[in-house]
Amino acid sequence: MEISNYMRDEHRMCDEAFAKAEQAVNEGDFKKAFEYFEEFMIDTLKHFDKEEEVLFPAFEAATLSTEGPTYVMKMEHNQVRGLLEQIKDAIDKEDKERFFSAADTLMILLQQHNMKEEQMLYAMCDNVLSDQASELVEKMKSH
Ligand SMILES: [Fe+2]
Ligand SMILES: [Fe+2]
Repeated sequence: MEISNYMRDEHRMCDEAFAKAEQAVNEGDFKKAFEYFEEFMIDTLKHFDKEEEVLFPAFEAATLSTEGPTYVMKMEHNQVRGLLEQIKDAIDKEDKERFFSAADTLMILLQQHNMKEEQMLYAMCDNVLSDQASELVEKMKSH
């Protein structure tokens, strides 16, 4: 399996859970929103860990660079982590306005982030890590 396909599928899965959380908040169902958001948050943080602990180190070793695209991606992960906390807090307090303000910021950031990974970084990973692709995907699946 190609690295890019596996990672892209995870982005899609996370998007779906988040859309469901947004819909639940729209309907005023904060209990349901909490469940979907928690699923989204757990999956997203797990995806970040796979990147930071498995994929990025392999990419950095293959390209001998730790200051390139992976550095920027890791900074964006931290921005997302901060927003996730804010959104979780807004759901806890059933604050619709704060939820959507932070959720909009998160969606813009995450969409741009995922696009950069899919169009640039994952494509580069498929190239430079082709000889260890299946091994890396297995490692990420069990991470
Ligand atoms: Fe990422
Ligand atoms: Fe990603």
